[in-house]
Amino acid sequence: MSTLTEKPSWQKLKSHYEEVKNLHLRELFAEDKERASHFTLEAAGLYLDYSKQRITKKTMNLLFALARECQLEEKRDAMFSGEKINSTEGRAVLHTALRNCGDKPIYVDGHDVMPDVRHVLAKMADFASKIRNASWRGFSGKAIKNIINIGIGGSDLGPAMAYEALKPYSDRSLTVRFVSNVDGTHLAEAVRDLDPAETLFIIASKTFTTQETMTNARSAREWLVKALGEAAVKNHFVAVSTAADKVAEFGIDTANMFEFWDWVGGRYSLTSAIGLSVMVAIGPENFQKMLSGFYAMDRHFAEAPIEQNMPVIMALLGIWYNNFFGAESHVILPYDQYLLRFADYFQQGDMESNGKSVTKEGEAVDYETGPIIWGQVGTNGQHAFYQLLHQGTKLVPADFIGFAKSHNPLGDHHAKLLSNLVAQTEALAFGKTRAEVEAEGVTGVLVAHKTFAGNHPTNTILAKELTPEVFGSLVALYEHKIFTQGIIWQLNSFDQWGVQLGKVLAGRILPELTAAEEPKLNHDSSTNAIITYLRKAR
Ligand code: F6P
Repeated sequence: MSTLTEKPSWQKLKSHYEEVKNLHLRELFAEDKERASHFTLEAAGLYLDYSKQRITKKTMNLLFALARECQLEEKRDAMFSGEKINSTEGRAVLHTALRNCGDKPIYVDGHDVMPDVRHVLAKMADFASKIRNASWRGFSGKAIKNIINIGIGGSDLGPAMAYEALKPYSDRSLTVRFVSNVDGTHLAEAVRDLDPAETLFIIASKTFTTQETMTNARSAREWLVKALGEAAVKNHFVAVSTAADKVAEFGIDTANMFEFWDWVGGRYSLTSAIGLSVMVAIGPENFQKMLSGFYAMDRHFAEAPIEQNMPVIMALLGIWYNNFFGAESHVILPYDQYLLRFADYFQQGDMESNGKSVTKEGEAVDYETGPIIWGQVGTNGQHAFYQLLHQGTKLVPADFIGFAKSHNPLGDHHAKLLSNLVAQTEALAFGKTRAEVEAEGVTGVLVAHKTFAGNHPTNTILAKELTPEVFGSLVALYEHKIFTQGIIWQLNSFDQWGVQLGKVLAGRILPELTAAEEPKLNHDSSTNAIITYLRKAR
């Protein structure tokens, strides 16, 4: 047995689960009229109500004990202080340094990284301002009107999600697009209506070797050179990377490269230079406000006691369902159209971090680790998959996210949106009993169909408005939730070896698909047949 499941708090949680697994939220709320106030907290501009979770005070106390037994506080402090906690890659994990608005130095190998962080932020601000005030111009003298970020994974999802989230703060005269897929359609559709003379490409890649990004970058370069000539590249291409040599090799002047460092994980890089497209769109001041929101949640996570620590509480609730109730997935449901990419972003953030089955020490785990993350903006999900949430056989813990004020106060749209958010959490928790259905005059087989079991756990996360600060806090909240769960599951949340094998095999298959001569195929019979089919049908 692993050391995790042997821990006294884990064992206690196991027997406690047997005691409480059948308790219904209806009973829990009936027993304690003040339940909401016991399980609500505010931090960094966010309000979390977790009273509609299948927990008692004892559950939480046992979960807090588990966090302590797993030395969460010590390990959290190790991350913030720059220890090399990414053990398989020998790297520090310091995305928190990128938004450190305080004046304390942060050391990696004895070097204070804060002056470097501030230098790059200032360089980004200078560049963003030049694009916004048209003092940086295209090769033919035209102002830049289109920004295309080319990147994938963390070098795409973060800026793409943040750009959508903060659109109300963006310069609407700019067209900002994100190209990630190696499918040529993505790039072709992104540039088809654009004038190359007004288009700037940001090539965002930590390694500057990723196949998808380099393929898209080369094709973008060809598109531009075809229209404006080779000499135009310097006005229309900038890079964001940790690899200056590879940027230069590609033909981008390293003076137009925005640096970040190996201690920034791809999926935690939004607040590094990877956020350049967002800064161009919303301006340096709003970007700084976003960083201050991240910082506020970082401080809360670093300083608040475990019992009042929002990311820790959310992480522990996730463990409760994942490891004790056997829930396989977790759904994120933002009731705000601007957060339409939020669940996609944390699909990578969470699943690439904690989708692992060996511990840091390389031991196979004998417990469940990271859940499947999915989601959709409200109210669209209600007309798609909520049927399963309400009456299906799966337990799917859910986060509902909403804002009191809308950026688009159109008639009664916002009140309707919010009423749906609140109604869903109420319906999921309390359901509708047979007796209630029958009292409405329903009879026969329809009674069963119209009954809702309820007892579906939800968090409600609220804020006044989706400002850059609130957005920053919200993203940091989920980042630290993922960190906390990784600590408890004893994982290295900061590597991603699981993406390697597919990359290697694709490299082998590419020439087999494209060779003029019929290749000798040495795969299994299925893979051989698929390659043969594709070669014939191409
Ligand atoms: O999917 C694997 C991965 O390494 C991610 O972790 C990363 O965000 C993405 O590829 C892109 O990598 P890069 O920024 O080096 O192009």
